[in-house]
Amino acid sequence: MKSIEYARETAYNPFYPEMMRIVRRYNLTDDVRLFQVRPPDGKKTPSVEYRPGQFMMVSVVGTGEAPFSISSSPSRPGLIEFCIRKTGTVTEALFRLKENSTIGVRGPYGNGFPVEKMVGHDLIFVVGGLGAAPLRSLLLYVLDNRELFGKVYFLHGAKKPSEMLFREEFFSMCERDDLSCFLSVDADDTGRWPARVGLVTCLFSEVKGVTPDNTYAVVCGPPAMYKFVIAELLKLNIPKHQILMTLERRMKCGTGKCGHCAIDYIYACLDGPVFTYWDVLHMRELI
Ligand SMILES: Cc1cc2nc3c(=O)[nH]c(=O)nc-3n(C[C@H](O)[C@H](O)[C@H](O)COP(=O)(O)OP(=O)(O)OC[C@H]3O[C@@H](n4cnc5c(N)ncnc54)[C@H](O)[C@@H]3O)c2cc1C
Ligand code: FES
Repeated sequence: MKSIEYARETAYNPFYPEMMRIVRRYNLTDDVRLFQVRPPDGKKTPSVEYRPGQFMMVSVVGTGEAPFSISSSPSRPGLIEFCIRKTGTVTEALFRLKENSTIGVRGPYGNGFPVEKMVGHDLIFVVGGLGAAPLRSLLLYVLDNRELFGKVYFLHGAKKPSEMLFREEFFSMCERDDLSCFLSVDADDTGRWPARVGLVTCLFSEVKGVTPDNTYAVVCGPPAMYKFVIAELLKLNIPKHQILMTLERRMKCGTGKCGHCAIDYIYACLDGPVFTYWDVLHMRELI
């Protein structure tokens, strides 16, 4: 007779989390931490196959679960990375865990970025604050497949130097010849910030020579940022259906079953979290 373990291993249950080990965790800012996780040694799982822009449901046993974007790139297999801000019950429990602790992970969920359609195009990334979490995955993917894309601009803004996520990583990217990387802070409280001071929109003056019809823009950041960034992208004549944005809604199941993320006739967990500006114009509630 087949054992319960055999049934568990062979029956696909989308709500059954896979236990993964926290290999490393370190602070990116005072309240944002990067978690590098991997399946137990030697175990191959379908869940590690994902595309940039997808998210996973992460759980702490006895506390609960919440959705988090995948910050690592599928082009760098082995570890899955989550960049998590401490905001409430689940994230506080995650921050209490030490390296080698196990967490539950299910997914990946959501549509992710249409990377196949983006091939051959110029790309403009516009990132604010925690928006770096999903967009870092796409940026690393693009850099690892650099020959497939045209010009790549990466514009990243933070409130102040200590709040810029992946600061060292992005500063080292600014040295690359195949990437136009520009960083800004709203205010420099250190007096030693070596890049631009101003809102992220001030970096648009660096974007030169893109062909609008052949360009995809990718935007993720705090809600207040979208209106101004979209205005800049429209000034560059980027078509509305080629402006992509990843948006958050409250989610529970992640699989289109509970209705928590429903907006009109769409489920943000299935049809999103990546939407085009065209989608957003027809569903104002999205932002
Ligand atoms: C697709 C998706 C991807 C996400 N990616 C990340 C990520 O990469 N990193 C990260 O730190 N967070 C991310 N989040 C947000 C994260 O899931 C929430 O902050 C989550 O509620 C944290 O759980 P908690 O139990 O710690 O906080 P809670 O105790 O649930 O809530 C803390 C506070 O956040 C508010 N809140 C909860 N959910 C949301 C929401 N969806 N939108 C706005 N406010 C909310 C609550 O009202 C409360 O004020 C993502 C959310 C979605 C839907
Ligand atoms: S989170 Fe349950 S339907 Fe989207």
